[in-house]
Amino acid sequence: MGGGIAQVSAFSGCDVVVRDVSAESLQKGRAQIEKSLRKIIEKSETPDKSGLFDQTLGRISWTTDWEALGGCELIVEAVFEEFGVKAAVLQELEKICSPRTILASNTSSISITKLAGTTSRPEMIIGMHFMNPVPLMKLVEIVRGVLTSQETYERTRDLAQALGKTAVEVRDFPGFISNRILMPMINEAVFALMEGVADPESIDQVMKLGMNHPMGPLRLADLIGLDVCLDIMNVLFEGFKDSKYRPCPLLVKMVDAGLLGRKSGRGFFDYLDSK
Ligand code: CAA
Repeated sequence: MGGGIAQVSAFSGCDVVVRDVSAESLQKGRAQIEKSLRKIIEKSETPDKSGLFDQTLGRISWTTDWEALGGCELIVEAVFEEFGVKAAVLQELEKICSPRTILASNTSSISITKLAGTTSRPEMIIGMHFMNPVPLMKLVEIVRGVLTSQETYERTRDLAQALGKTAVEVRDFPGFISNRILMPMINEAVFALMEGVADPESIDQVMKLGMNHPMGPLRLADLIGLDVCLDIMNVLFEGFKDSKYRPCPLLVKMVDAGLLGRKSGRGFFDYLDSK
């Protein structure tokens, strides 16, 4: 997700600093951006495409240093979906950035209010939830925590629009709107599979051909990552204390087995060629 966010930001003319934990992960992110960017430029209707690839990449700098983020106006964290890890990143960022810097989280379900409560600047913390694959999906869900200021909201919304996205404002409830509705559907598809109602291909076909979804729920789960789906179901389950959000045991089992979807080469379907 971080790579996709960096890509659309640079493509829209922003100077971007990508910070990751190792040179290897930066290299992986860069390769992913280059591949996606080539596709996007190939399909773009811009009359003069020459130089677009190099110009876009030229706006991105790559680093493992926290200090390199010091001059940024807005920082989007996109680390994995665990409260403690995200809170630690926000605290690290607070040390190095200016009081005017907005700290946005791309969390897919964790409470923005709770994350903001771990910092000394809750009015500058906001949710900026991009959808996967970021370069193709129009939506950014903008999530206001209880103490997020109006100015932080407006600057974040304006940035999302400048990136060519449609910003939709939602309140801070578990799963926001996107995952409160999407994840129970995916989870239910996994229950249907576990109960032997149909095989994966058939479950997906019903939703594609019958409901005009661009891809079936199981293939979509593979795209998102089964570990991410499980984390989000747990956030819904714990947040609402309602058994209707309990994660399907088959989803838990697949994550335990390391079958995480596209990124691990196997989930409900096989992706061994694209790994
Ligand atoms: N960058 C650039 N191009 C890409 C791309 C990327 N990251 N991913 C796919 N494409 C291109 C493909 O290469 C393909 O190009 P060609 O037509 O030239 O071959 C084109 O997009 C269409 O792709 P496909 O033919 O493979 O498949 P598709 O027509 O089904 O489109 C899709 C792919 C846009 C992903 C579509 O299936 C879709 O919209 N799926 C639903 C995605 C979705 O629901 N996302 C939200 C997930 S939830 C989330 O992200 C939030 C969360 O918190 C979990």
